[in-house]
Amino acid sequence: MSTDADKVNADDARLAVRLGPLVLRNPILTASGTFGYVREMAGIVDLSRLGGVVPKTITLQPRIGNPPPRIVETPSGMLNSIGLDNDGLDHFLKVHLPFLRTVPTQVIVNIAGKTAEEFALMAERLAEANALAGGIAGLELNLSCPNVAGGVDFAVDSSLTEAVVNRVRKVWPGPLLAKLTPNVHSILPAAQAAVAAGADVLSLVNTFLGMAVDWRRRVPVLGNVTGGLSGPAIKPMALRLVYQAAEKLAVPIIGIGGISTIDDVMEYLVAGAWAVQVGTANFFNPTVSVKLVDQLPEALDQLGANSVAEIINSIRRP
Ligand SMILES: Cc1cc2nc3c(=O)[nH]c(=O)nc-3n(C[C@H](O)[C@H](O)[C@H](O)COP(=O)(O)O)c2cc1C
Repeated sequence: MSTDADKVNADDARLAVRLGPLVLRNPILTASGTFGYVREMAGIVDLSRLGGVVPKTITLQPRIGNPPPRIVETPSGMLNSIGLDNDGLDHFLKVHLPFLRTVPTQVIVNIAGKTAEEFALMAERLAEANALAGGIAGLELNLSCPNVAGGVDFAVDSSLTEAVVNRVRKVWPGPLLAKLTPNVHSILPAAQAAVAAGADVLSLVNTFLGMAVDWRRRVPVLGNVTGGLSGPAIKPMALRLVYQAAEKLAVPIIGIGGISTIDDVMEYLVAGAWAVQVGTANFFNPTVSVKLVDQLPEALDQLGANSVAEIINSIRRP
């Protein structure tokens, strides 16, 4: 069992970052849905080198997800319509959490609910489990999922974002992360609502809505018709959203979208991210996140920087 100190002590003290109440040994995490429940990766990736991991989203009840095909490759990216396929909260508490407690890095549990009440119910049960035996360094709300009442994703509507974060904040005492959707005209209303309701950190962003067409058969490729675009193709768009949020809000931001190289990491940090999550790149190189940690000190040297903290949001704004 790793102690809390083991989970945050940096090999290189220059790399440690503090995102409000969330302390990480370095700013490189893996993104939800691209790293399984971590167990699958434990034999391949030296988890003790990572800043943190985010297991796949869990929902209150088990879900079978969307009809196949659920993944298709696109130029410099991929589209997925997995549909939150998972075994539900009870299974997570019984099977995954005991293992995650042994993982030598910070674990951020990601949840999605169909309603604000469901989010709060899950958060309450996770808070109880954490009070008993620990293991959860933070709770990330997947607000890029549809709410049952209105159909639109929670984070498309800032009042829904506020309602969910508000309800969860009342029952979850630890670090709270709100993961927002990029499928909005401006990221600011949902970002501001999440912060006002008590989110400690913003995770920006989830996938961009897209579709693929099989023109010969004249059908959509994905069983669900539309899906979420991820991978290098989305980096400029996600980077723009991080930059715009960092310009207006003092809250710590985790940048997510198309990160696979050290240049990507540095661009996000300089543009306003305090840490990053690596997603799709895990599918073509499962150990890429450790490589990025290895390359970070050299990149700091290039800027003459003593620490990661020093370069966050250091971009010259016109
Ligand atoms: C196959 C797949 C499954 C995903 N599942 C989830 C999920 O369960 N919960 C979530 O919050 N994000 C999920 N995501 C989104 C990623 O965590 C990330 O926000 C997004 O892919 C952008 O980062 P990337 O370009 O590095 O992949 C998923 C992404 C992919 C590609």
